[in-house]
Amino acid sequence: MTWTPNSWRDRPAKHIPEDYPDLDALAAAEARLAESPPLVFAGEVDRLKQRLGQVAAGEAFLLQGGDCAESFKEFSADNIRDTLRVLLQMAVVLTYGASKPVVKVGRLAGQFGKPRSSPVETIDGVTLPSYRGDNINGMDFTPEARMPDPDRLIRSYAQSASTLNLVRAFSQGGYASLDNVHKWMLGFVDRSPLGEKYAAMADKITDALDFMKACGVTPQSVPQMAQVEVYTSHEALLLGYEQALTRRDEASGSGKWYDTSAHMLWIGHRTRQVDHAHVEFCRGVQNPIGMKCGPGLEVDELLRILDVLNPEDEAGRITLISRFGAEGVEEGLAPLARAVKASGRTVVWSCDPMHGNTLKTESGFKTRPVDHILTEVRGFIDVLNAEGCVPGGVHFEMTGQNVTECIGGAQAISESDLSSRYHTHCDPRLNGEQALELAFLIAEKLVAVKEAAGSDFRKAG
Ligand code: PEP
Ligand code: CO
Repeated sequence: MTWTPNSWRDRPAKHIPEDYPDLDALAAAEARLAESPPLVFAGEVDRLKQRLGQVAAGEAFLLQGGDCAESFKEFSADNIRDTLRVLLQMAVVLTYGASKPVVKVGRLAGQFGKPRSSPVETIDGVTLPSYRGDNINGMDFTPEARMPDPDRLIRSYAQSASTLNLVRAFSQGGYASLDNVHKWMLGFVDRSPLGEKYAAMADKITDALDFMKACGVTPQSVPQMAQVEVYTSHEALLLGYEQALTRRDEASGSGKWYDTSAHMLWIGHRTRQVDHAHVEFCRGVQNPIGMKCGPGLEVDELLRILDVLNPEDEAGRITLISRFGAEGVEEGLAPLARAVKASGRTVVWSCDPMHGNTLKTESGFKTRPVDHILTEVRGFIDVLNAEGCVPGGVHFEMTGQNVTECIGGAQAISESDLSSRYHTHCDPRLNGEQALELAFLIAEKLVAVKEAAGSDFRKAG
């Protein structure tokens, strides 16, 4: 069947709002976006795919992270800078743990639209449409705010463009040099109540950098050390927006279609039906595509989706993001990993330890315990190693801000702390310290796995 940027419109589509009061205004907003500049370029998208191909082969590690939902309210240079700082520090720690380059992908510059478990919300007997993300409607509990508004598409495009501009400036302009990231990381170890636990690894990273410096490898002599590649990603949920930013690559003459709203897009847990709109849209663009794999996904269904999304089995094209929860990871992931391996298909396996570990406290806050998050990542690594597959990466909802949304961690955030700085527009995020702590603990696990493999190898030899 021929694909076009709008062929998804003939398919059933879940979680795309149909209640815009003025469909002409929606079409006008989409037409305006279609004439607006692309946010990312084909060459960058291809480079990310190549990097993810290295992840699939076990030669690199993927770190994806950022907000659950970006919002107009939390949009500021400081927020973007702080999230990026944490992401880069995590990457340094994971580079050490995995002994591999880390591919850095932000959940930012476009991560607005949210699938919701219920289309409506009832408070004190009043029922209104659910909040669906700042690119669709507003969070205030009023009929006006909850009405989908096409102007929000334009505003989220503009916010994405300035977010991306800042990310490019920070990552290319010297601010994110390895020296700085290393200094920030040492600051974290000093501050953390459990800093001692991380000091040994931090010292080893410092030693490695000192050694490189002694060999003449510095940001001055090797300009790449003063710069960093950061890619963008979001859930491809609102397909009208994605279609408007989808362009044919004329520059290289390939004539292929790229969704220029982000480098990487993913298909969510609720919209991955093989014959529905989201899979149809994603199959036609060249971008790396992620897909959430969670409870209810059957082996046959997964293999069919892979056939549709990646018929040529291109390396780096598909990232399967496992999100079964700490309790469910072994039972859920093992059969899928086995089947994908047996089919000979090339994928990146990544772990989203957030969406299967959400619980509601008695006082009504959605939260996630840091120890469940860590347990799921460890389980993910063990399951994939046992199946002879590569545990390729991790996917976090996190922010650089000192929020209190997830419980636990060295700061020992408790249920009663949640109300103090609970700012998320959707799911609870790790705060900067919790995210970095997890990076250390995951790095520790990766080192332990490496050492165990090394001793098996020595024994065998
Ligand atoms: C998300 O990543 O924010 C999300 C909604 O995840 P999932 O589709 O896995 O539930
Ligand atoms: Co979320």
